[in-house]
Amino acid sequence: MTNSRISGFYNLTLDERRAKLADAANQTPDSLLPWTTGGLSAESADHMIENVIGMYALPLGIGLNFMVNGRDVLVPFAIEEPSVVAGASFMAKLARAGGGYFATTSEPLMIGQIQVINVVNMNEARLKIYEHKAELLAAADEIDPILKKFGGGARDLEVRLIEGSPIGPFLVIHLIYDVRDAMGANAVNTACEKLAPQIEAITNGKVHLRILSNLADRRIARARCTIPVSELTMGFEQFKGETVRDGIIAAWAFAATDPYRAATHNKGIMNGVDAVVIATGNDWRAIEAGAHAYAARSGRYTSLSTWNKDKDGNLVGTLEMPMAVGIVGGATKVHPAAQAAVKLMGVKTANELAEIIVSVGLAQNMAALRALATEGIQRGHMSLHARQVAIAAGASGEMIEKVASQMVAEKVVRIDRAEEILKGMKVS
Ligand code: MEV
Repeated sequence: MTNSRISGFYNLTLDERRAKLADAANQTPDSLLPWTTGGLSAESADHMIENVIGMYALPLGIGLNFMVNGRDVLVPFAIEEPSVVAGASFMAKLARAGGGYFATTSEPLMIGQIQVINVVNMNEARLKIYEHKAELLAAADEIDPILKKFGGGARDLEVRLIEGSPIGPFLVIHLIYDVRDAMGANAVNTACEKLAPQIEAITNGKVHLRILSNLADRRIARARCTIPVSELTMGFEQFKGETVRDGIIAAWAFAATDPYRAATHNKGIMNGVDAVVIATGNDWRAIEAGAHAYAARSGRYTSLSTWNKDKDGNLVGTLEMPMAVGIVGGATKVHPAAQAAVKLMGVKTANELAEIIVSVGLAQNMAALRALATEGIQRGHMSLHARQVAIAAGASGEMIEKVASQMVAEKVVRIDRAEEILKGMKVS
C-alpha cells in the first residue's frame, strides 16, 4: 500500500527523496530511473514527431498527501512553475481531515463529429440517418477489435441540425464511442472516416469534416472535498478558519460571475491538471480545449469549480470537467517517464487516472484561492520564484539560496538585483 505522507520531503536531497519515494510507493529505485535520466531516448523521440534534434526537459515533482477515494496516491507533476506542487500537497493534507478527495467518472465516451453539407432536405436526411443507426453503429464498432475486446466500441449516434452558419444549414452527426482506457482520438477519427461513404449514400449529401470533438462532455471527471473549518488556519494562524473559508467562497463567487476572473481561476485548476496530464504523456492541449469549452457551456464562461459551506460550516469544494486521458497508446505507452508515472500512481484504468487528475485540479484551485483570499500569492510565490531568478542570474550551488533569500528579504526579486548580489558575494 502506498503511503502519500512523507514528512520533511522538501528538505531532503534529490537522492534521499528518490529513496523515500521508492519506499513509500513500494517500488524498487529502478522504477524511478526514467525520471533521473529524462526517460526518452533520442531514437524514440525521433519516431514520435518530425525533424527531431533533441529533447526538452521539465522538472518532475511529487505531490504528497493525496488520498483519492480512500486510497493514498503519490502524484507526479511535470511543470516549470514554482509553488504548484507545494500548494497542491498542502491542500491535500488539509483535505485528509475530511476524508480526502471523493472522485467519480462517467463512462469513457468520446464524441466524433461528421459534418454533412450539400443536403437538399435536412429533416428527411436527419431522420434517414436515425433509420440506419443500427447498421452505422455496427460498422463503426468493427474498426478496433482490441478496443472491442476490452468492452469499448460504438455506443450511440445523434444528428444535429446546425443553422445560422456562414455557409447555410448543414448536418452534424455525433458518433458516441466508448474508448475504455485509451484517449480515443485515433479510434474515433478512424470510425468517423469509415462511416463517411455510408452517410453520403443515406443523405445524398457530402461528408466534409470527420474528426473527434475535444469538448468531451460525455467523459466527465468529478471530485469533491470537505475541509473542516479548523484545518483552514493551518499555516495561517493569524486568520480564523471561518475568515479563510468565507474568503475562499467570495473568491469563487468572483470567478462564477466574471469571465475575466474565471479564466485565471480555471488557469489555476489547470496548473495541477496539466502537470499530471503531461507527466503521464497525455495530450494536454486536448484537456485544455475541453476544459475551457466546458466552462463556457452555458453560453457564458464561468468557473469549473464551486466552493460553499456545508450545514456544519465546513468548506466544500467540487470540480467537474471533461477528462479525456488514456493509459494505453500514444506517448503514455512509448515514453518511459509516462509509464513510470502511471505505475507510481498505481492506476489500472484511464478512469482512475482521471479521478486523480480532477482531485489534483481541485486541490490546486483551493491552494490559489486560499492564498489569494488571505495574504495574496506573492509572498509564497516570490520565495520560490527568487530561486529561479537567482539561477537565471548565474548563481549555482549554495549561492542560489543565498541570493534568493536576500532578494526576498529586500522584497526585490529581479534579475538585475540578483546579478548585483551575486557580484557582491563573489568579490567578498
Ligand atoms: C497562477 O499560475 C495561478 C493563479 O493565478 C490562479 C488563481 O488566480 O486562482 C494563482
